[in-house]
Amino acid sequence: MTDFKQLSQPSLLGIRGLTRGDIDLIHATAKEFKDVLNRPIKKVPSLRDFTVANLFFEDSTRTRLSFELAEKRLSADVVNFSAAGSSVKKGETLVDTVNNILAMKVDMVVMRHPHPGAHHFLASKVKVPIVNAGDGTHEHPTQALLDTFSLREALGHDLNGKNIAIVGDIKHSRVALSNILALKLLGANVRVCGPQTLIPKHMDSLGVEVSHDLDDTIRWADALNMLRIQLERQGDGGSVRFFPTLREYTMRFGLTMERLTQADRDVVVMHPGPINRGVEITSEVADCHQAIILDQVEHGVAVRMAVLYMLSQHRPD
Ligand code: NCD
Repeated sequence: MTDFKQLSQPSLLGIRGLTRGDIDLIHATAKEFKDVLNRPIKKVPSLRDFTVANLFFEDSTRTRLSFELAEKRLSADVVNFSAAGSSVKKGETLVDTVNNILAMKVDMVVMRHPHPGAHHFLASKVKVPIVNAGDGTHEHPTQALLDTFSLREALGHDLNGKNIAIVGDIKHSRVALSNILALKLLGANVRVCGPQTLIPKHMDSLGVEVSHDLDDTIRWADALNMLRIQLERQGDGGSVRFFPTLREYTMRFGLTMERLTQADRDVVVMHPGPINRGVEITSEVADCHQAIILDQVEHGVAVRMAVLYMLSQHRPD
């Protein structure tokens, strides 16, 4: 096929490395798969006789389920490996683990790993496409692709000039970095908002505004992406370290209905999950008509189908 459009990369290691055209292509394909998912028969044969290994070296519920469903909806054969709690580390052991799995004729690897860079390392060692399902505090590209897809569905296809705020624990969030990179590629204005201690210093170099005032940010934004406080990544066995108490965090940065309604329009509310109800967002906000949190989950399957399908079709130029 001469007119088959393909991604510029053989693997999805991060949003860094993708082009605007790649994102548009993934979103256009995801839209078709979203239609498939709303049909009575939700399955297509696109990945028949194709085997995908899901390697999760870190805990996950929805991302893992979402990938597995996406693979099954595409008729792929699926094998799952979970190393949560084991002593598997980056290096020879990771390559050995993966090579063993590949020896069983696996065609693609979806991996979540606590070490940033583990996916790049692996991609240099094995020949099959690798999909990054989260690498430590670094990137979570499919989350950003589904978030931007959801924004396009909610705000219109053209995100150019739209004001999108990412609120909360930017420092420990892989969702934040991938979202920033994807939103900038799509031309959106991006602002991060949170306590000074949870915003890394390099934000300016990404072309992102920084704010410590949630009320002002709500008035500025077309959409707010509320992030979880990642206590498990803050060291000290999951205790609060970067602000005095969770209660104080919630008072300054928790999204309530009262705060949300200060805006003169319906601001879209997003959250990648898992939600800490009553911390970064109240139950009332999480369940209100402006929240598209469950749409994000639905779109996650369609976007992951698109990524898996496009990578399975990738041929070197
Ligand atoms: C995110 C993650 O794991 O990075 N969740 C997800 O993928 N659905 C965000 C989080 O853990 O807060």
